[in-house]
Amino acid sequence: MSEAARIDGKAFAEALRARIGAAAAAFLQAAARKPGLAVVLVGEDAASQVYVGAKAKACEEAGIASFEHRLPATTSAAELLTLVERLNRDPEVDGILVQLPLPQGLDEQAVIAAIDPDKDVDGFHVINAGRLAVGQEGFVPCTPLGCLMLLQDRIGDLSGLEAVVIGRSNIVGKPMAQLLTDANATVTIAHSRTKNLPEVVRRADIVVAAVGRPEMVRGDWIKPGATVIDVGINRLPPEEGKAKGRLVGDVAYAEALEVAGAITPVPGGVGPMTIAVLLRNTLVAAHRHAGLDAPEGI
Ligand code: GUN
Repeated sequence: MSEAARIDGKAFAEALRARIGAAAAAFLQAAARKPGLAVVLVGEDAASQVYVGAKAKACEEAGIASFEHRLPATTSAAELLTLVERLNRDPEVDGILVQLPLPQGLDEQAVIAAIDPDKDVDGFHVINAGRLAVGQEGFVPCTPLGCLMLLQDRIGDLSGLEAVVIGRSNIVGKPMAQLLTDANATVTIAHSRTKNLPEVVRRADIVVAAVGRPEMVRGDWIKPGATVIDVGINRLPPEEGKAKGRLVGDVAYAEALEVAGAITPVPGGVGPMTIAVLLRNTLVAAHRHAGLDAPEGI
């Protein structure tokens, strides 16, 4: 059999960001302001600093106003909640993202609960989780929505396909399973206690791996021709003479490439989609706040 197609999430995300840029320009004409995203970073976590910088840059490129709030690790819960409440009331802010993880001592659930659900562009608020569960309009977490877009772009109609989601987190696994169910796939959620995981995965036409364990899913777990979406981003220990280890996904890529029909690489697959969908959610929030119809095709 021939090698799997490589699903180019980077290119898909770039095209999506270009469409968002055009829609943000039209929004500026219609509403006399840019869509606005507030990003709150508490503390010095190195990876979070990189993500927050990337989000601000992506906003600017798409014509979305970015309001960055960098607070010291010593920030109290009361101070953080006061900022969130101020952003909730700010008419220039359509979306609020509090970068996770928060420093120890700050309760993430309490902070997420303080965000206005209609500005919760991460889709982490229980109101938005509930809206997704019952099929109401809200905000869907960016990573699983990005995965669904890649799957629908690759496969088209997902009706009747067997999907296995490995991982049951609130941020990826659970919403991914709901999105696939809504798209008429037959969905299994597998996790660390699943028995005979390789056999379960072998049933799947669609595999979404979101466990955070480097190269856990082996090539011989994959049904020939299946579409594989790898959400994992894991850094291996450095090889000799190297400062940094390689980035790998949750899927053994080289093995899976021999069997799958299509697969996302790491990096350059799912990762770039997350920020693009964050911009999309912010644009949608802006249209809702301004009483405008959300743009089509985004
Ligand atoms: N930390 C890592 N990914 C994310 C994300 O998508 N949203 C937030 N708020 N924090 C994160």
